[in-house]
Parts: sequence; C-alpha cells; structure tokens
Amino acid sequence: MVADAATRRAELERRAAEWAGCTRCPLSESRTQVVVGSGDADADLMFVGEAPGFHEDKQGVPFVGQAGKLLETLLEEIGLTREQVFIANVLKCRPPGNRDPLPGEIEACQGYLFAQIQLIRPMVICTLGNFATKLLSGSPQGITRVRGTPQTQTYGSVTVQLFPIYHPAAALYTPAMLEMLRGDFARIPSLLAGNGGHGQELEAPAPVPVAAMEPPVAVGDAQLSFQF
Ligand code: URA
Repeated sequence: MVADAATRRAELERRAAEWAGCTRCPLSESRTQVVVGSGDADADLMFVGEAPGFHEDKQGVPFVGQAGKLLETLLEEIGLTREQVFIANVLKCRPPGNRDPLPGEIEACQGYLFAQIQLIRPMVICTLGNFATKLLSGSPQGITRVRGTPQTQTYGSVTVQLFPIYHPAAALYTPAMLEMLRGDFARIPSLLAGNGGHGQELEAPAPVPVAAMEPPVAVGDAQLSFQF
C-alpha cells in the first residue's frame, strides 16, 4: 500500500536530514553543503538536472543560478511555478569547478535520487541533459538522440513518463536550443494529463527574453527545500 502524501513528505524530510552528512564520495570534502532537492514532495512533475553549481552549493537549493532562472521562466510559460514541481539533481554535491560528474560519483549518489522518486511518486520526470537522461533511461543513448520522446520507465513501484529534454544551461546561449526546449515544455501539460504529450498543445507562449527574466524567487517555508 502506498503511504499518504503527508507520510511520504515526512519521510523525505527525515531522509534529507540523514543525507546531509553523506561521505559516500570525495565530493563531500569540497562541497559547502548537500543539495538534496526542493519543491513539492507530492509533485506530479519532477525535474532532474546534473549537479549543483556554485550558487546551489552556497544556497543549498538546486537551480538557483542562470539555468534555474530559465527553468522558472519556462515553467511559468506553461502555468507552473517551481513550488509546484520537485527539482533534484543526479549528484547532490557540487563537483569542483562544475566539471562533469564522474561515474563513481553517480554510482555513489544515485540511490538518493531513486529514493526520492519512490517517495515523491511523480507521473512525469523531465531529465535535463545527458547525465540525468542516461541514468534514468538506463541507456547510453545521449540526449540529442532521445530528446523530446517520452518513454515509460518503472523504478521500483513507480511507473513514470520519462521525458528527456535539453538542459537549460545548454539553451542559455543557443537560441535554436531554447526554442526546442520551449517546444518540449509546451508538451508537458498533456504528458501530465496522461495522453503521451500528443494532446492539444498549448498556444505558443509569448517567449520571455532571457535577459528580462526575474531573479529566482526565494524558496518559502511551505517548500520542501533541504537547506542544512
Ligand atoms: N543547477 C543545478 O542545480 N543543476 C544543474 O544541473 C545545473 C545547475
């Protein structure tokens, strides 16, 4: 039997407190803090990025830098806020200099992400870029091959529509990629409605110029944001 949302939320908070002291890989020596995730612990929609960067490591919240601002803008364009989704990363600690995650680090950290999926039980998981896509698809196929095609995946007792899309950081300086990302975001509401992302698409949203984006909103108390 699946526990109710309040029980799962409490369990996620309890685990996050445990994970704050993680020393499973050498990133624990260089990080400021573990960045577990933030958002609604009972969200239907989850985003999985790569790893915390400089600002995330300092603030303890994922996607608070430039890529996070773009993520928030794209969410806003489909009528959602970051408080309504859950945002996490493959790695919970910042790799020095924002280098790519190493296989051993992914191996050491992946259990936390799979535990989050079991507790949150989302309907749709958008993987942002290569590392999250390869981990959650269980396939070596890269993001350019699989982007924009939803796939059904089961993790333990949770079956989701996995929707691989470009990482917002990649779209920040490449307008063509930004348009593809925007098009993929427009399919999320129909994926959430359970019709495979092929339903009526939202009317093309008026694009918000990246330069005009607001600074990221503070993550409020009602949020499950593990800041240790
Ligand atoms: N910030 C994150 O939290 N994750 C990323 O993948 C990139 C920026």
